[in-house]
Amino acid sequence: MKIFLDTASLEEIKKGLEWNMVDGVTTNPTLIAKEGCKNYRERIKEIAEIVRGPISAEVLAEDFEGMAREAKELSSISKNIVIKIPMTEEGIKSCKFLSDEGIKVNVTLIFSPLQALIAAKAGASYVSPFVGRLDDVGNPGMEIVSEILQIFQNYNFETEVIVASIRNPEHVRIAALQGAHISTMPFSTLKQIFKHPLTDVGIKRFLEDYKKAGLKW
Ligand code: G3P
Repeated sequence: MKIFLDTASLEEIKKGLEWNMVDGVTTNPTLIAKEGCKNYRERIKEIAEIVRGPISAEVLAEDFEGMAREAKELSSISKNIVIKIPMTEEGIKSCKFLSDEGIKVNVTLIFSPLQALIAAKAGASYVSPFVGRLDDVGNPGMEIVSEILQIFQNYNFETEVIVASIRNPEHVRIAALQGAHISTMPFSTLKQIFKHPLTDVGIKRFLEDYKKAGLKW
């Protein structure tokens, strides 16, 4: 399973890259705004300068013409840019158009398996089911991931599933067990998945025993 960071923070991306744990990055307008950036495309460019893998950058327009225009502008930033398009009728029309032009599309704000099916049929390279937001409304998010994976397998779609709106390591564990292609997670979750309290206890005990015995290196 590939690990993407869901962030627009250069600091977090650099840290994740040092650990060799960033296969790609996903952004959205909320994440870029949170960083206090003044220029939307400038931040995407800064991310593209340090990340080798795919970088999802979202359009802001809601109509086909606007989406197509913004997609071209975002694509010109770097060959690694994947255009994030919302799951709407105009979005799906744009997805087909852009995919036919060879531009990779990540259809975002997916909340049902049938939305994912439509996106795949429109040529999306990626779909992003938002599992945490589904959990928030009492609808188990990971269940739709499993259904999407099954549907894609039934019809041999090459569209990859990016499990998004991840809130905790449990989402990542289930995604990996289900065989999801990608988990995109906040930096805080990436840090959490390194950790287990028994690892820390174990390290402490090894060092104490080494010192107690007066062992020479
Ligand atoms: O990748 C989608 C993600 O940014 C949404 O996460 O936590 O706002 O639901 P969240």
